[in-house]
Amino acid sequence: MGKDVIVACDFSSAKATFDFLDKFKDEKPFVKIGMELFYAEGPSIVREIKKRGHKIFLDLKLHDIPNTVKKSMAVLSNLDVDMTNLHAAGTIEMMKAALEGLTREDGTRPLLIAVTQLTSTSEERMQNELLINATINDTIVKYAQNANAAGLDGVVCSPLEAGMVKDACGKSFMTVTPGVRFADGDIGDQVRVTTPAKAKEIGSDYIVVGRPITAADNPVAAYRRCVEEFVG
Ligand code: C5P
Repeated sequence: MGKDVIVACDFSSAKATFDFLDKFKDEKPFVKIGMELFYAEGPSIVREIKKRGHKIFLDLKLHDIPNTVKKSMAVLSNLDVDMTNLHAAGTIEMMKAALEGLTREDGTRPLLIAVTQLTSTSEERMQNELLINATINDTIVKYAQNANAAGLDGVVCSPLEAGMVKDACGKSFMTVTPGVRFADGDIGDQVRVTTPAKAKEIGSDYIVVGRPITAADNPVAAYRRCVEEFVG
């Protein structure tokens, strides 16, 4: 499994996305398409970015009954994305159904990773509103173990949680980590952040980086700096 930097293309239109991607002449970054862009432009945005030669992480975080998730995953698999995701809260049964839907006739499939607890959910809210009577770290580890038991490839988590997920699920269980900032950069609305170099040290397999690249004066230079620090 190769380490890579995934650029979060959190744009609201195809035009803004292509204006950004056109800046890259010598490299084809791995691109994350989230709900905003997908709901604005539909599946055509995935096909167009794929046609340009980028790998795609389609971040739609599915969470529904197993049958619906299975059928939806089959649609996403036909779009030929490289990685997609769902909420581990949907249970092992839902995650297994998702894998079935995602697997193509020839046995190949995109990577499938699970969201454990969103990084926007505090331990207090999880306990008081969701009535989960455990620490947030124990919940994250348990959800990661469920994803592993269902046969998924890994989880999305904070880089600061990547170590405990690896300890619980094994080294080859992937951690995909947002919340990355340069040591001399703005943290914006992210709270638990770390640098690309630190994420590498902790053992993240992929870092997801948005604004430090998309809002930089020179996005290509910022991307290259991320790759240099994280992949080396
Ligand atoms: O701009 P920034 O680097 O903060 O972007 C991080 C990306 O990762 C965004 O697309 C955000 O939605 C996503 N993400 C996150 N935290 C999570 C899951 C996804 O920041 N727990």
